[in-house]
Amino acid sequence: MKLKNLIIPAVCLAPLTMTGAGGVEISHLGPTNTLVRVNGEGQYLLLPVQESHEDDARINVLADGKIEETIYVRLARTKTDYTVPFDLSKYKGKNLMLDIVTQQNRNSVRDAQDDVCWDGMIITDTFDTTNREKKYRPAYHHTPLYGWMNDPNGMFYKDGVWHLYYQKNPYGSKWQNMTWGHSTSKDLIHWDHQKDAIKPDGLGSIFSGSSVVDHNNTAGYGKDAVIALFTSAGTSQMQSLAYSTDNGDTFEVYAGNPIITLDSEARDPNMFWNDKTGEWNLVLAHALDKENLFFTSPDLKNWTLSGTFGKGLGAQEGVWECPDLFELPVPGTDKTKWVLICNINPGGPFGGSSIQYFIGDFDGKTFISDTNPDGTVPTKWLDYGKDNYALVSWSNAPDNRRTAIGWMSNWQYAADVPTMQFRSANTLPREMELFSTNDGELYVASVPSPELLKLRGKIIEKASNKNIGSNPTDFQLPSEGLCEINLDFEATNADVVSFILSNPEGEKVIMRYDSKNRTMSFDRRQSGIVDFSQKFPAVTVSPTFETDGKINLRIFIDRSSIELFGNRGQFVMTNLVFPNSPYTNLSVESRNGNATLSELKVYEINS
Ligand code: FRU
Repeated sequence: MKLKNLIIPAVCLAPLTMTGAGGVEISHLGPTNTLVRVNGEGQYLLLPVQESHEDDARINVLADGKIEETIYVRLARTKTDYTVPFDLSKYKGKNLMLDIVTQQNRNSVRDAQDDVCWDGMIITDTFDTTNREKKYRPAYHHTPLYGWMNDPNGMFYKDGVWHLYYQKNPYGSKWQNMTWGHSTSKDLIHWDHQKDAIKPDGLGSIFSGSSVVDHNNTAGYGKDAVIALFTSAGTSQMQSLAYSTDNGDTFEVYAGNPIITLDSEARDPNMFWNDKTGEWNLVLAHALDKENLFFTSPDLKNWTLSGTFGKGLGAQEGVWECPDLFELPVPGTDKTKWVLICNINPGGPFGGSSIQYFIGDFDGKTFISDTNPDGTVPTKWLDYGKDNYALVSWSNAPDNRRTAIGWMSNWQYAADVPTMQFRSANTLPREMELFSTNDGELYVASVPSPELLKLRGKIIEKASNKNIGSNPTDFQLPSEGLCEINLDFEATNADVVSFILSNPEGEKVIMRYDSKNRTMSFDRRQSGIVDFSQKFPAVTVSPTFETDGKINLRIFIDRSSIELFGNRGQFVMTNLVFPNSPYTNLSVESRNGNATLSELKVYEINS
């Protein structure tokens, strides 16, 4: 028996209280519990974060004794990696207190008072968001100002503005505290950061969903109110509604939430107005059952189950998430077909997250997939890279466009990529269009959105009608590496045509066309930093769908991503890369025969 445990010196009966440097009073109540009283004035309380923790501290925020919100933060123990701002403005004039449990998930206790976070909890009027990630923060892709991002959510277009909401952690660069962050753009390229739109509430955190412009005031919040449906993720997953009467700037959550409850996990509601039936349709991912559920509604609040699709069909390895359903014209006909986007994780062609889709018909109640001649349902993939997930499209887009964007990462390693101030970017915007192959099979193309042409700056390399043999032909890329390479080639009689990006460190990405198999591959095994996850080094391979060996490639290179669009987006590979210095050289060569580089242009990026 340890005698000292039995003798409690009188002084220990009072909590250890310290007045922090910046207007906070900190009382350690026990080995894992601390109270922080906020006495000072200012816009933010800075919370120091150490990323390597497995467990987040649970912080109950009390105003005048009532719990207002609960947030989870990896409070720094031995070292501060960065701070995150807790906004105090809403609590002005109230007695504000943070009741912190520092060790939620552990069995052992430790003394919270030794942690370094307490000294760093200061009140300030500014939070510095200057980019500290010069090497890897994309120059022309959407990223959060700071903190973690996953799925794009609730996108809609209205009055010339593209609204993009996204899964955001405002308190750290790993997944937690799911909130709808918000950005807006007038050109799909330059994004302005807006205030967080929907924050966790009593029903849970705010998972993915969609928004619509309610042109006919069906929900009762006025003509053209913006209605968002999302998943409230608490102990269970339920669907909830929020509405905005200021064009998506701020949202009120509906007092009657949740609006859909089921007895199994379902999430990521995606809705649209159906002109033919005069009602709303909704697709919901029945995640663990690996199927989609369809609902109808007159008013966006009352939903009736109308059908299901997918059980046992297509790729089934992982959970089904983030569905989208839309109608597209079939080229060369006056017909249309419906596309059901079905994101799946894991189970993608190269491991982890990926976008499966089905083409078929939708009768207003359920989706019926086209089948192969033998009656089976084909599995089709939208992107043959590793880093395009949770792709969904904008609602109410102009000119009948079906513009979509994906989260440019993969759940296999999204939390481990070598950035810290922010984690994850979105892909470039893409237009969804149908195309048919020579054998009459329909597929979805991801055509780079027309706005991306505005990114084209000075042409710094040019070639035409160049014979390509086994000796490499080299082209220079901009010193910062940011560019679009647009080229047309014909494999003529070559077996393989290679395009190799490299930097002075010898790091490289090899993109290779194989004329026998009609495939394009993307090898990032030597692309730079690859060792943060065993799942990162990879070769991805895409069918090219053509039969004549003539290929156009548009390759967009940003600081930590490469998007390769082949033949107007008929094949696409989106892959992250983390080179130690920018790729400044493109080498083209062919094997077993010659190829013709009919046209090549390297454009600098106007960002
Ligand atoms: C997909 C997903 C969604 C969910 C969200 C939570 O990446 O798992 O199904 O709503 O992320 O952040």
